[in-house]
Amino acid sequence: MRVEKTEFGITPAGEWVAGFTLEGGHGVAARVIEYGAALVSLEAPDREGRVGPVVLGFDALEPYLDCRAYLGATVGRFANRIADGSFSLEGRSYRLTRNLGRHHLHGGARGFDKALWRGEPIEAEGEVGVRLRYCSPDGEEGYPGELDVSVTYRLDRSGGLRIDYRATTDRATLVNLAHHSYFNLESGGETSVLAHQIEIEADDYLVIDEEGIPTGEIRPVEGTPLDFRSPRPLGCGIDALVASRGGYDHTFVLRGRGTSPTLAARVTDPGTGRVLEVLTTQPGLQLYSGNFLDGSLIGRGGVPYRRWHALCLEAEHFPDAPNHPSFPSAALEPGEVYAHSVIYRLRVQE
Ligand code: GLA
Repeated sequence: MRVEKTEFGITPAGEWVAGFTLEGGHGVAARVIEYGAALVSLEAPDREGRVGPVVLGFDALEPYLDCRAYLGATVGRFANRIADGSFSLEGRSYRLTRNLGRHHLHGGARGFDKALWRGEPIEAEGEVGVRLRYCSPDGEEGYPGELDVSVTYRLDRSGGLRIDYRATTDRATLVNLAHHSYFNLESGGETSVLAHQIEIEADDYLVIDEEGIPTGEIRPVEGTPLDFRSPRPLGCGIDALVASRGGYDHTFVLRGRGTSPTLAARVTDPGTGRVLEVLTTQPGLQLYSGNFLDGSLIGRGGVPYRRWHALCLEAEHFPDAPNHPSFPSAALEPGEVYAHSVIYRLRVQE
């Protein structure tokens, strides 16, 4: 197990961007960069022991600078949508950048995925990692309060990639941080993921309108294409969702949440035998099937990233939470510590 810091690139403003290569146990290796605190590569063995890529990513900094797909990024200050880019907090109204028509998406035009974080390697008993920090100024993209954020990636002996988020503020604000890797357990993006078997620990989902904004209603998954209570191929019910959302782009209400991460989803690629388990402390899980990938992003190895060639499992608060008092609150007060975790654990089928 080891961690190595190297140069990943230089921003147009001349800033040095470091990359941290983490080598964990079981042949799992990850690379995290300071730009966007993003995971740019993750490799894991298949059932024959052949190590291969399991996420989409680029080998150079440049494509990350204007990419709008949030590849592997840390998304914030508020991941997912805020209707009309507006909300009220403690009697004051705020107006955020509108970067999705009239709505706010993934922290705005320059969210945390476009921020330059600073990383420090971590070497401890049984794990290697990197802790990245960013200080988001008061008013950034319209959010109140200066927010001090850290994101720590750790790879352990068993093939688990753990991501811990911490944040504190000097004024009441909103925080909802999420990891936005696109997974393809078969090929890292060359092939479709429609045959991946999906299982999600959710009995209910959030009803959304035609723009993907929650209506506030929570409905059972039973009898819908969102019923992943037992494993089903991703492609099985996707046709029914093409007209409305281009595929899956929905929030699941996870069962029984606590302060330590518990199972949220399991993805299996029957061909290679690779299994991905997602554990989290977060209340929601967005399943997004790469509907907006249209082949124009050319990734590692010259691979064009096409629709349904990867899926995201974003552990997060519910979209538009500040405008729905019945949803778990995403507010953070001075003196409080925002703390959430997600673990992406890779193994092979027994
Ligand atoms: C999330 C959203 C999608 C899309 C992607 C990024 O998954 O829910 O609608 O914005 O991020 O392209």
